[in-house]
Amino acid sequence: MIPTTLLGTAKIPNDGGELTLSERDGDFAIKLTGVHGELMSSRMYSSELALAELGCAHIQAVENAKVLVGGMGMGFTLSAALKATTLSSEVLVAELVPEIIEWNKGPLGEAAGRPLDDDRTRVYLGDVGELFMSRQATYDAILLDVDNGPEAFTHDDNSELYSLESLRDIRDTLRPDGMLAVWSAWHDPRFTKKLKKARFKTSYKTVRAHKGKGSKHTIYLAQK
Ligand SMILES: C[S@@+](CC[C@H](N)C(=O)[O-])C[C@H]1O[C@@H](n2cnc3c(N)ncnc32)[C@H](O)[C@@H]1O
Repeated sequence: MIPTTLLGTAKIPNDGGELTLSERDGDFAIKLTGVHGELMSSRMYSSELALAELGCAHIQAVENAKVLVGGMGMGFTLSAALKATTLSSEVLVAELVPEIIEWNKGPLGEAAGRPLDDDRTRVYLGDVGELFMSRQATYDAILLDVDNGPEAFTHDDNSELYSLESLRDIRDTLRPDGMLAVWSAWHDPRFTKKLKKARFKTSYKTVRAHKGKGSKHTIYLAQK
């Protein structure tokens, strides 16, 4: 039998529970202790790539574009955002759990091709929601995959992130024509309605978890 090796554990701030990183036969898994299933696996990441490809499609030729990715996970979305943007662009990744960044500097970093080593990557350690408080038009694209979707799963405070008030703050933080893209494990028409109420032009795409196979995930696209 192929053994599973526990590589690390991390507490989620504000009593949010515990994350574990494990490795089995070259594949990595991040799990939330006490919850069935994986938060993230290095075997399935097509929809995490699609989040960045769809969310950055409008800026692929734009110089000095600024992209915000929340959160880091295994870095697939960050890596795809770097690929989807010009060499003069900058990609800021916000991550709540410091150990996630440390894990990505270690062996886990290989999974997505070490996007933290790219000169265009910046790291914000903290809640991505804090970056929307300024309401200054800063980003051309905001790519959110901090949970299972627009309902909190890993961190209770994340339900605030998808409130109408927060969506309005996020819209203010986008530059003209900027795009908010949100990853979700399911499709909920109520979220589309909420985005419209926050004055976004909205659409969504259904993408498969891995190379055209597996679970169907939703990417909500909301343009300023
Ligand atoms: C599902 S993973 C992201 C997967 C990522 N898209 C990828 O390509 O690997 C969710 C990540 O968001 C982080 N996170 C959760 N809530 C957050 C928040 N409010 N602010 C910043 N990061 C958060 C988690 O610690 C975790 O690293």
